[in-house]
Amino acid sequence: MPAIVIIGAQWGDEGKGKATDLLGSRIDYVVKFNGGNNAGHTVVIGNQKYALHLLPSGILTEGVTPVIGNGVVIDIEVLFDELDALIARGVDVSKLKVSANAHLITHYHRTLDKVTERFLGSRSIGTTGRGIGPAYADKINRVGLRVQDLFDENILRQKVEAALDQKNHLLVKIYNRRAISADEVVDTLLSYAERLRPMVTDTALELYNALEDGKTVLFEAGQATMLDVDHGTYPFVTSSSSTAGGAATGSGIGPGRIERVIGIVKAYTTRVGAGPFPTELFDASGEFLRSNGFEFGTTTGRPRRCGWYDAPIARYSARINGVTDFVLTKLDVLTGLETIPVCVAYDVDGVRHDEMPVSQSDFHHAKPIYEEFPGWTEDITGARTFDDLPVNAQNYVLAVEARSGARISAIGVGPGRDAIVERHDLLG
Ligand code: GDP
Ligand code: IMO
Ligand code: MG
Repeated sequence: MPAIVIIGAQWGDEGKGKATDLLGSRIDYVVKFNGGNNAGHTVVIGNQKYALHLLPSGILTEGVTPVIGNGVVIDIEVLFDELDALIARGVDVSKLKVSANAHLITHYHRTLDKVTERFLGSRSIGTTGRGIGPAYADKINRVGLRVQDLFDENILRQKVEAALDQKNHLLVKIYNRRAISADEVVDTLLSYAERLRPMVTDTALELYNALEDGKTVLFEAGQATMLDVDHGTYPFVTSSSSTAGGAATGSGIGPGRIERVIGIVKAYTTRVGAGPFPTELFDASGEFLRSNGFEFGTTTGRPRRCGWYDAPIARYSARINGVTDFVLTKLDVLTGLETIPVCVAYDVDGVRHDEMPVSQSDFHHAKPIYEEFPGWTEDITGARTFDDLPVNAQNYVLAVEARSGARISAIGVGPGRDAIVERHDLLG
């Protein structure tokens, strides 16, 4: 099973970190290929809880080589803070490899992210404020900084000065902020260069060689399908390719190498930030999901918006990503509900849509059409086989599976590493 991709099938926070960690002992490499420290993955191992942002979750497993691919945007200050925090807890991070082609997030990207959001007012996206959008904008606009620029001071200075020539006009004249000094940006970046140098390599070549040697490489997406810049609910998305195709462009492996795509999907839906969300709940049921599922952002601490399971979104994700297996997470959070609605289609101005509407405006008006399934009250956190689940929980899983476009191969029944029901081997 050479190349496997893990993606989020909804709007993020599905439990990708836990799924990566679960497979950790059976993989050789784990690659982050998109996004940056906008991601927040919580992994619970025994009584230890880890929150990862820029680093792939597989870094927690001994023996795994973690890789930050070219498709990632790196805030180096955050990278070293996160590494130091793991080192302090005894995690071996010495194998980390960083692509020379990955782009950098600097002070001016973070500042621009925050001021543009403030400027948008009620039309803001609700970004994480980490500078993600401005850094990717510079990449596409061909004025970005890359990791390799850190090792050529002359080039670095030229690029930072060129970028700030423009951006300081924006900051001062449009946004009424102080100008940012190029020297300050360059000095900060250079202060990290020597520590970063030994990690920097041609990661595409390293991954090619690993795959040729028959090693197992896991690609871990940040964000999710509905936040993908092409396939998500644009403009309420992140700025990277968070779907399975992004694993190839964001790491430099050939797409034909990918043999399995594991979609992580919550047994209900959550979203952080602005944008359409048809099954969103504004009543006590939403509060039930938020408090039982502890739905507060790992990165920003914001309360997550909560709603019922949306099968058309799962089917869309299955199709866009080529999902071979789903991991259905947080089934335990639904325990105690009398009935559990599942959105099976949308009503858009009186017309039934079984698939995601083509037009974003239609999606904004989409009203969920629900089917209801009986709930259960038994504690399921100790279940380890499908048969251990109460029959109503089994039926809920089967109903969701039948409407989601791929088989459900594992079911999360708690935050811990072992709180999982495996139905089919995810790597077999
Ligand atoms: P990610 O961004 O996709 O990695 O997900 P997050 O870590 O942001 O959010 C998922 C949260 O759910 C984390 O706090 C996990 O510890 C927790 N979690 C994952 N799987 C399960 C599960 O099956 N049951 C419960 N109760 N919590 C889970
Ligand atoms: P993980 O990997 C949930 C959301 C933000 C905002 C939009 C754009 O933990 O699933 P950005 O800072 O990326 O420009 O913000 O995307 N967002 C996430 N929501 N989980 C995430 O990551 C997210 N990363 C970004 O809330 O709506
Ligand atoms: Mg998260």
